[in-house]
Amino acid sequence: MAIERKRKLDVSSTVPAGKLAKVAPTPNVGAASPMFADQASGSIFNPWNGKPYSQNFHRILDQRKTLPVWQHKEEILDALRKNQVLVLVGETGSGKTTQIPQFVLEMMTMTVAETTPGDDKRRKKMMVGCTQPRRVAAMSVSQRVAEEMDVTLGEEVGYTIRFEDKSGPKTVLNYLTDGMLLREATADPLLRSYSAIILDEAHERTVATDILFGLLKRVLRSRPDLKLVVMSATLEAEKFQGYFGGKAPLIKVPGRLHDVEVLYTEESQRDYVESAIQTVVQVHMCEGPGDVLLFLTGEEEIEDACRNIAKEIGNLGGQVGPATIIPLYSTLPPALQQKVFEPAPGRTRKIVVSTNIAETSLTIDGIVYVVDPGFVKRKVYDPRVGAESLQVTPISKASAEQRKGRAGRTAPGKCYRLYTEKSFDKDLQSQTDPEIVRSNLGTTFLTMKKLGIDDLVHFDYMDPPAPKTLERALEMLYYLGAMDDEGNLTKLGRIMSEFPLDPQTAKALIVSPEFNCSNEILSICAMLSVPNCFVRPPKGEARRKAAADEARARFAHIEGDHLTLLNIYHAFKLNNEDPSWCHENFINYKAMKSADNVRQQLARIMSRCSLRMCSTEFGSRDYYVNIRKAILAGCFMQVAHLERSTGRYLTVRDNQAVHLHPSTCLDHNPQWVVYNECVVTSRSFIRTTTDIRGEWLVDIAPHFYEMENFPECEAKRVLKTLYKNRR
Ligand code: CDP
Ligand code: MG
Repeated sequence: MAIERKRKLDVSSTVPAGKLAKVAPTPNVGAASPMFADQASGSIFNPWNGKPYSQNFHRILDQRKTLPVWQHKEEILDALRKNQVLVLVGETGSGKTTQIPQFVLEMMTMTVAETTPGDDKRRKKMMVGCTQPRRVAAMSVSQRVAEEMDVTLGEEVGYTIRFEDKSGPKTVLNYLTDGMLLREATADPLLRSYSAIILDEAHERTVATDILFGLLKRVLRSRPDLKLVVMSATLEAEKFQGYFGGKAPLIKVPGRLHDVEVLYTEESQRDYVESAIQTVVQVHMCEGPGDVLLFLTGEEEIEDACRNIAKEIGNLGGQVGPATIIPLYSTLPPALQQKVFEPAPGRTRKIVVSTNIAETSLTIDGIVYVVDPGFVKRKVYDPRVGAESLQVTPISKASAEQRKGRAGRTAPGKCYRLYTEKSFDKDLQSQTDPEIVRSNLGTTFLTMKKLGIDDLVHFDYMDPPAPKTLERALEMLYYLGAMDDEGNLTKLGRIMSEFPLDPQTAKALIVSPEFNCSNEILSICAMLSVPNCFVRPPKGEARRKAAADEARARFAHIEGDHLTLLNIYHAFKLNNEDPSWCHENFINYKAMKSADNVRQQLARIMSRCSLRMCSTEFGSRDYYVNIRKAILAGCFMQVAHLERSTGRYLTVRDNQAVHLHPSTCLDHNPQWVVYNECVVTSRSFIRTTTDIRGEWLVDIAPHFYEMENFPECEAKRVLKTLYKNRR
């Protein structure tokens, strides 16, 4: 089935080669100038590494030439030669992310070669950077492009994501997260290592991309030689154009979309996961050939759904053919992520269960059926209480349209919307709000300050954040001591911005030498920066689940989850980082290795900032006390108090009711807890919590725990007594 479809696709989409070889060979190109893709068909050597081209290169080149952007190559490059900024809109899968950076690189290289042939120094400075909001996309696309260019990933083509830099001195094309480019700008404000920047997935409107817009607008004025391409899958393109004063040309690349039939449910669904599973199984039973893409909201939901779909299909026995079920989410190890692009083994139907990653960031070929329950997990922020959390929320109309589009890339398809047509019309917002209006801007402000942006309030935002959000972020940096009364970055603030951590965690790390426990806080910070280190056996496997709980209990520290993480890290090192030890103890080996790697990186920054590495003697009574105090010294704004009268926790200062997350190792309810994050699902949970003492609050953060600012509550009365006793 799959094979037949593919053959059809190749025939229908092959464009005669003559039409494509349009790039005008530039005259007077120096001997050092590289040859490029379409000229290279005749060349044996790859200009990027001097090696002969592989068979694979030519095979992929033929595929690439069928992508819609290839037919606009000259138009795009011509517009970019004549203008500094270009806005490019194209359907998902039209080849924007993989092809455009290569086109731009080719153009920039020729320009440099023409002006200064053979000048290697200049060649080094012509790097093209392409930003991605998602780490997964940066990794997976760079791998694909390295293959397309027939080079090794990490050499000529690289990627950079937080805590992982796979680029090097030879890199000419780098895919990096928008957050990483922002960080690079703090060290290199004019982005001198780049000749061109491509802001990809601009419609996602992440905070980092939005700030980059403002930053690049300034940089472009100082660097007339720098080119900027803004790429987007949807609508908003005119808005981007307007942002650059209407001077940037807009090119639309029409997609190759086939018709997609949309089917709505007659009633709204009570349990969207269950209903999604049933729909997928139904499609597999009744519909013709073609792969299925189901959108769900997160790792656990996806893993559960994959198992249930497999089970239901298994139950049908010989009535239906087999299916290959593939999960896709950001914390999946890269090798498994890559599986989604491979054809399913045998002639089976591929069923991909994915987060929003598959909406526009990654294109999966061969999808004919899309199942869209209409939900996404996204960041929400309530500036009144200062809490940022991930919540499952309805998608926008624009998202629904994008999801639908995934079904019509290679053939006519069907999109099953698990909501009513009325709900689509009435309930869904037309666009998702940009992230900047629903985020805690603490980290961003620290970066912006470091970039030399003095006035954070009047910055040229594409959409300005709410005044309350601005206020909250400034207040937070002030309380942390990162900013002074006049809004200037303090010395502490500058050190904080060196760390790729949120400001609270960075602060805890920086002050940890004062509490004589920087070695330990460093390990905890590293553990907090990687995905969950516990392996959770699936729901159905009761025995393994019990064994996992037992293993987990062995690491549990009675005073809290931060200390439990430390125990695990220590145990991992004591057991020589042994994978089989991890397996036996239900610990995720990959997560531990990556925590270890993060720890080394953070240690290097600490040493650069002359921060002392030290530990309290393990036998000392103060060993854990010091660690808990240091955590509090950074996270004193994330504290909850147990109300005797009601038996529930309220966050301090904002009086929000919260619950200890079920994953906590705390087996008692301490009067005061410090927590790492707040997650909202059916209720508000505080996750990664540690027992602290009320006295420490008034000792460590008296400026924040000023009684005048406090709402009336039990915590206030307790704190008042503590203050009185202190005097
Ligand atoms: O960015 P845009 O959505 O316009 O398209 P793209 O990501 O450049 O994808 C173009 C083509 O490359 C699609 O047909 C993908 O299937 C293919 N591709 C791939 O085979 N492997 C990847 N890791 C990424 C893209
Ligand atoms: Mg793309």
